[in-house]
Amino acid sequence: MKRIEDIKVMLTGKKAAPKSRPPERDLPDPADLPLDMPLKDVFMRRRSSLDFSDATICDEDLVRILWAADGINGKGKNDNHRTTPTTLNWKEIDTYVVKANGVWLWVPERHVLSFVHEKDCRKDFCLLQPMVSQAPVHLVYVYDQAKTQGLMTDLAMQIVQFIKKKSITTLSEEVMAHAPLLDAGARVMAVYMACAALNLNCLARLTFDSQKVHDTLGLTATQKPLCVQTLGHKPKGLLDLAF
Ligand SMILES: Cc1cc2nc3c(=O)[nH]c(=O)nc-3n(C[C@H](O)[C@H](O)[C@H](O)COP(=O)(O)O)c2cc1C
Repeated sequence: MKRIEDIKVMLTGKKAAPKSRPPERDLPDPADLPLDMPLKDVFMRRRSSLDFSDATICDEDLVRILWAADGINGKGKNDNHRTTPTTLNWKEIDTYVVKANGVWLWVPERHVLSFVHEKDCRKDFCLLQPMVSQAPVHLVYVYDQAKTQGLMTDLAMQIVQFIKKKSITTLSEEVMAHAPLLDAGARVMAVYMACAALNLNCLARLTFDSQKVHDTLGLTATQKPLCVQTLGHKPKGLLDLAF
């Protein structure tokens, strides 16, 4: 069966204009940037902090953190392999970057930030914890249910049903409820580790108004924000200010 676009081309002789991409901001290539604190030191330093200065995070550090969260770590045939795992390799979690200069979407394949809008809406992501709103970066992990649909998912559900001999509906509901949360959790930990290695403060948060975040990011009906992670430099102490 011919697609509508093909039929239009046959009738008019004109090709449909390709869907234009939003503007993108290039970040440095993470492959060129070291991130190499010994693993034990990273675990020793990993902690949550509510204290952030408003100083910006440089692009080199931001891209290191985004690469840790969801970066390409494969080559050749595996060139879309990622630094964090996802259930059935769905890659169903998008990372939005909320900064003073607007909202952006991380695109791991090209290590760029895709423009969403230019408003500084950091305070919209900080329900009950306004003291962290001046931090320079909030990462928002957004689940997209549309990315979990497909043959592999149907097949896996049927195998699980066969093994457990339970109703397929109950199992799919269980898996669909847990999987995105676990996948977002893997990302949270990767970012905590990258921040520890870069001597930046970091805080995972569920204190946000889901509907407000949904509206501010302009999400679709299949998308849902799962977690916000706030990052920034440690605030300057009195001694730092004196010198
Ligand atoms: C999924 C998740 C959600 C969290 N949500 C919040 C939050 O909304 N507000 C907050 O201040 N801390 C939040 N935290 C941070 C925890 O309170 C913190 O991890 C815990 O106190 C242990 O401290 P540590 O991370 O330094 O080990 C969250 C942590 C995780 C993993």
